[in-house]
Amino acid sequence: MKIAIIGLGFVGLSLCSVLASKGIRTIGIDSDIRKCSKIAEGIPTFFEPNLEKTLKKALKRKLIVTNKLSTINDCDFIFVTVGTPQKKNGDIDLSMIKTVTGDIGKLLSKNKRKPIILIKSTVIPGTMKNVVLPILERNSKKKAGKDFGLISNPEFLQEGKAIHDTIKPHVVVLGGYRTKFMRKTEKFFSRFNPNVPIIITNHQTAEMIKYANNSFLATKISFINQIANICQGIPDTNIDDVANTIGLDPRIGNPFLNAGPGYGGSCLPKDIKAIINLSSKLGVNPTLLTAVEKINKQQISNIVELVKQNIGKIRGKKLTVLGVAFKPGTDDIRDSVGIELAKRLLKLGAKITIHDPKALENARKIFCDNTKYVKSISSALKDCQCAIIMTQWKEYERINNKTIKHMAKKFIIDSRRVLSNKNLNAKYYAIGLGQKV
Ligand code: UGA
Repeated sequence: MKIAIIGLGFVGLSLCSVLASKGIRTIGIDSDIRKCSKIAEGIPTFFEPNLEKTLKKALKRKLIVTNKLSTINDCDFIFVTVGTPQKKNGDIDLSMIKTVTGDIGKLLSKNKRKPIILIKSTVIPGTMKNVVLPILERNSKKKAGKDFGLISNPEFLQEGKAIHDTIKPHVVVLGGYRTKFMRKTEKFFSRFNPNVPIIITNHQTAEMIKYANNSFLATKISFINQIANICQGIPDTNIDDVANTIGLDPRIGNPFLNAGPGYGGSCLPKDIKAIINLSSKLGVNPTLLTAVEKINKQQISNIVELVKQNIGKIRGKKLTVLGVAFKPGTDDIRDSVGIELAKRLLKLGAKITIHDPKALENARKIFCDNTKYVKSISSALKDCQCAIIMTQWKEYERINNKTIKHMAKKFIIDSRRVLSNKNLNAKYYAIGLGQKV
């Protein structure tokens, strides 16, 4: 068996590394030649726990990395894992998926094999049927279901846990027609991810499952953030005790009840916007999802307000943002709330210093010389008038009175409550904690 994966981002690179490290002949394909050569040397182009180790093992065993799409010709399964970024109007940009499926179609026209094409990229319900399938059939002059298989296979992995989630996802979703190709794919996944439930449904439902999943996660986060904001107004109330306890109710469940500055990253904000757009187009007022998005945006505005209330005019003030990765365990800053906060404060005239254990280089690409980038926490805090903890890095739990000694004004906003048990000699606000009485 030979497998191709097209698009070597978080999903694609994790998948080809895991497959090949298990001894399956795998080709990782990406149009970016520089990216390919780095990966071929065993260097991932982003930070992800255990990825480098798995990639190196994969390269030693069965992984080939190339920018040549024609290498898919002798493959049995072709996974498409290219990005579907967001356009300015909130719709998703299908250009990469259209180009790739167009090229796959052309190659299929001369291919004697009957490969199975699996689309992992997140696409709006209807895209497989109305866009991907017609492109493939038109360019190949062949029939899906007869000459090749086409299956929706949405991905649920989380950054920071990509390798773990690729090996053991909570579910495998296969969307498409119940043909011999579907049976072959089901067999493949039952071996690749043993004991994981496999859900077989049609394309549109598979596409919708992905959006429903991410929308529900975002809803949980905005729900707990709203409760956290209420807690803040009630002296001595603690959102973590509230979240941990309601999470014990099996109908609610613990994950994704960690209150904070709002959700970020390349997926939840984009997917919520896309489903809101789709819903409106279908004439269904997306009341709940719009509120989820509104609460999310409000979290950052609340932090900016808190800074203003406590230090007065922001112009000229030295402020430190602790954490710009969109969550711990990654150097990814796409749609990060830490980055958004730094942007908002810069616009108000603040002098910003940024600290992050992994994402400083990526932050530099955005702010260039407009902010300072400091590797040690205590140096980042020196002379600042307010520090705001945005990402829940373990490193921030070690902050103590010595670390904050040289702050010009000892004022800390802790959006993740990592310092809530410390007796800091500072004015301290935390999201979700009522003031101590
Ligand atoms: C998310 C989903 O969790 C994955 O299942 C999905 O496959 C992926 O999107 C995708 O569509 O590709 P990811 O973007 O890696 O994964 O990040 P999450 O772990 O979901 O976190 C998203 C944001 O929510 C982060 O900013 C995080 O800090 C925030 N969050 C998460 C909270 O504020 N509280 C929580 O309790 C959980």
